[in-house]
Amino acid sequence: MASRSMTSPAPADPAAGCDFVTPPDGGGAIALLLKSRLLAWWAARILAWIGRRIGHPLSVKGTVLVIRHADAREVLDRDLDFHVGAVNGPRMDGIGFHFVLGMDRAPELVAEREVLYQALGRVDMAALVARAQADTDARLAGCGGSIDVVEDYARQVAAGTASALFGIAPADHARFCDASRAIFYHCFLNLAGDKAIEARGVAAAHALSGWLDAEITRRIAANEFGHDMMGQLLRAGASPDLTRRTLGGMLVGSIDTTASAVAKIMVVLMRDPVMRAAATRNANERYLMYGWCQEALRRWAHVPMLGRQAAQDCALTGVPIKAGAKVILLSQAAMLDPDAFPAPTEMHPTRPNAGYLHFGAGLHPCAGRDVNQWQIPMLVGALLKRGPKAMGKMAWAGPFPAHMPLTLGGDAK
Ligand code: HEM
Repeated sequence: MASRSMTSPAPADPAAGCDFVTPPDGGGAIALLLKSRLLAWWAARILAWIGRRIGHPLSVKGTVLVIRHADAREVLDRDLDFHVGAVNGPRMDGIGFHFVLGMDRAPELVAEREVLYQALGRVDMAALVARAQADTDARLAGCGGSIDVVEDYARQVAAGTASALFGIAPADHARFCDASRAIFYHCFLNLAGDKAIEARGVAAAHALSGWLDAEITRRIAANEFGHDMMGQLLRAGASPDLTRRTLGGMLVGSIDTTASAVAKIMVVLMRDPVMRAAATRNANERYLMYGWCQEALRRWAHVPMLGRQAAQDCALTGVPIKAGAKVILLSQAAMLDPDAFPAPTEMHPTRPNAGYLHFGAGLHPCAGRDVNQWQIPMLVGALLKRGPKAMGKMAWAGPFPAHMPLTLGGDAK
């Protein structure tokens, strides 16, 4: 089998003419919470205090709010009682991306997850790291004295990693990135069922499926699978449909998550010169840098909560829960629980990794963990080494950071 990877033909875009660019405004309460650092921070702190005082989850009109860290972990671990399929499945299935994050424990999940992780494990991660490092360095070298941390930096590097990892690089790169954002918005943040968000997500999913299908078909016809994840899936015998669903499902969670996290981490660091100075001293030590990033995200989380639904009548720390009840894990508040994070408002980069909930846990931990642990510290560390001096105002695309100007100072060390 030849080792050629994709060369991005110009596949038909089945959603050509459909605009799915996420507009600056909208998104309701969830967008407000994601956009307001101080609102999310103080809400999490107050909730963490309440959770500790009462010592159990709160049931509000049938919705269960899980605040303490131990309770949040228990919900994620008790995946037969607390389902994710009912939360994500309908929207993911509705756009044609039946995917593990919309499935509960069952033979189908076990089989498809194994296919996913085996293919991911066979990708040359060192080559991805080198590619992203070169991209990061080039963007900083060519930016002059300031850079848009989101649109000209983290989002582009993450999209480049996604293209190289998954094997899909449509000619219209901006449309590719916008499709990923629109699908994520609809699948995971459209809790109120907004029709405009849904319409953009559906159109974007149509385009993404078209791009993936065209590339999968081309590789099969040429009998040249490549060595990226698409190639590994096809080589392992995954059907074209499973290959498309697996790559699409992963891809939509990999670009704006990274860009949002990097933007929020930089805001936290720019607002805390002491923390920034300490993190800058560790900018070349990826493990410690990752620790600083995880800590900064406790101050401004990428997403401050995760959702589950009770599969049957059950109880959590003595609180009865009815089948079908919504269960909201307040993950940012849980990461301010002193039982799991002693002195929770202090920032320590060497805290045990297992306590963080930024990337989920239990049956559905983020499958991008192996990428996140080098890509996020790489992106943040490179900015810190350039001695950032001042940041401009963040601009938003719905709940996603869209632009954040950062003025840089010294040369890279
Ligand atoms: C800052 C970056 C990221 C954040 C904050 C993040 C966050 C998360 C979270 C919280 C979950 C679990 C959701 C739940 O349990 O309800 C998750 C799952 C997932 N993530 Fe990520 N993610 C990031 C980057 C990535 C990347 C780069 C990839 C792919 C390379 C990825 C692929 C996935 C997949 C496939 C799942 C589902 C895993 C499963 O269902 O078993 N993520 N992510």
